[in-house]
Amino acid sequence: MTQDELKKLVGIESAKYVKNGDIVGLGTGSTAYFMVEELGRRMKEEGLEITGVTTSNATTKQATELGIPLKSIDEVSHVDILIDGADEISSDFQGTKGGGAALLFEKIVASYANEIIWIVDESKMVEKLGAFPLPIEVIRYGCEQLFHLFDKKGYQPTFRINNEEKLVTDDGNYIIDLHIPTINNPIEFAKELDTYVGVVEHGLFTNMVNRVIVGSEHGVKTIEVR
Ligand code: 5RP
Repeated sequence: MTQDELKKLVGIESAKYVKNGDIVGLGTGSTAYFMVEELGRRMKEEGLEITGVTTSNATTKQATELGIPLKSIDEVSHVDILIDGADEISSDFQGTKGGGAALLFEKIVASYANEIIWIVDESKMVEKLGAFPLPIEVIRYGCEQLFHLFDKKGYQPTFRINNEEKLVTDDGNYIIDLHIPTINNPIEFAKELDTYVGVVEHGLFTNMVNRVIVGSEHGVKTIEVR
């Protein structure tokens, strides 16, 4: 099976957890894409009724094209279920997200979700986080100072680039990726990152996920985390 086929498999499986009337957080990325497509199909063919809360402009565009009714996070009282991808998931189910530069809205929606499902192919399951660069969303003002600070600390920062310019997120910020081979204690490191002025949000999603759906050659495995 190709990686895309695995992504489609977990996307479709995760959509089964969505019930009629749910307010659904719609994640971002190439795996979440298949989940959103499946919800669109269920609405059309099964009469499923949901309200979507999107986590990026890209997902808003896709959901709108599928006819999924949308509300912003400020227009809903809560989110019943959020389904999203991830870049890495450690053996104790901490996650790195933001490979698609949508970590800020993803984390905001995650904060108000009653249930969070991550959908990944097995290449994302790791012992410890770190091989995937850790995205940090930063305010533009003072971003070079922050970059130097990360550099001095040995975090090997690089600005995320798009079309030879610094990539601008949906909220108008930049992304600095940190290249730290092993993040031994994501919870402590998340606390440290929260202390830097100018950091809007970081890609460590700690103690958040309830269920992980993993796709592999052997099929789909669902792991109940908490
Ligand atoms: C976007 C994200 C994505 O969920 C993450 O990058 C996984 O994406 P993909 O399913 O395309 O590998 O965090 O900011």
